[in-house]
Amino acid sequence: RYPVICIDGPSGAGKGTVTWRLAQALDYQLLDSGALYRIVGLKAFEAGLVTADTSQVIDEMAVLKLTQSLEIAFVPNNASGRVDILVNDEAVGEQVRNETVGGYASQIAIFPKVREALLKLQQDMATRSGLVADGRDMGTIVFPNADVKVFLTASAEARAERRVAQLLNAGQTADFDAILTTIKARDDRDENRSTAPSKPAEDALLLDSSILDADTVYEQVKKHCQT
Ligand code: CDP
Repeated sequence: RYPVICIDGPSGAGKGTVTWRLAQALDYQLLDSGALYRIVGLKAFEAGLVTADTSQVIDEMAVLKLTQSLEIAFVPNNASGRVDILVNDEAVGEQVRNETVGGYASQIAIFPKVREALLKLQQDMATRSGLVADGRDMGTIVFPNADVKVFLTASAEARAERRVAQLLNAGQTADFDAILTTIKARDDRDENRSTAPSKPAEDALLLDSSILDADTVYEQVKKHCQT
C-alpha cells in the first residue's frame, strides 16, 4: 500500500498550493478531487441540469447518469509535472476553474449517488503510487486510513481577500462583498449537506491559514508528515 496524505478544507484556504508543493517534494501523484466535481458540475450545466439559481430542484438521477457516462482519466503530464484530467479523451480546460463552475460543483456534490460514482476513481489513484489528495472528504470518506490528514481553514474574510488579490493580479476586477457572499454560500452548502459534509477528520491536524503565510503552512504540514 502506498502512502496517502489528505489535505481537506474550504475553498480558498490554500490547499492547492500545499498539495502541489508536497506532491513535487515527495514525488507523489496529486488528486485534485474538486476537479472531478467541477467537471460534473460543468457538464451538468451544459446539459441544462444545473443553473446558477440554487433554489431550483436538480434531477439527481439525471446528474448520476451523466456522471456515469463520463470517461474520466488522470494522466501524468511529464512536461508540466502535473496530472492532466481527460474527460472522454479530451483534456479539461481552465474553464472548470472559475467560481461559477465551483458553484455548480457544490450543487451536484450534495448528491450521495453522484459522490459514490466518483469514489472508486479517487481510491484507485492510491493503488499506483504515493498520493497527496486535495478536497473536502479525503480524510473522512475517501481515504479514512490515510497516513497523514490535514484540515486547512481560514476565515471567510481572509479567503475572500486572497481571492480579490488573485483576480486583481490577473488583471480582472473584483468585488470583495460579492466574493465574500459567494464563499459563504458555498461553505454553507459544503458543510451542511448530509453526505460527506466538509469537516475535519477526527485525527486531522487543524491549521488556520488566516494567520499563517503559504510557506509556514507548507513547513508545518511537512513537519507533520515526518512525525
Ligand atoms: O478550489 P476550491 O476549494 O474553490 O474548490 P474545489 O476543491 O475545486 O471544489 C469545488 C466544489 O466541489 C466544492 O465546493 C465542493 O462542493 C465539491 N467538492 C466535494 O464535495 N468534495 C471534494 N472532495 C472536493 C470538492
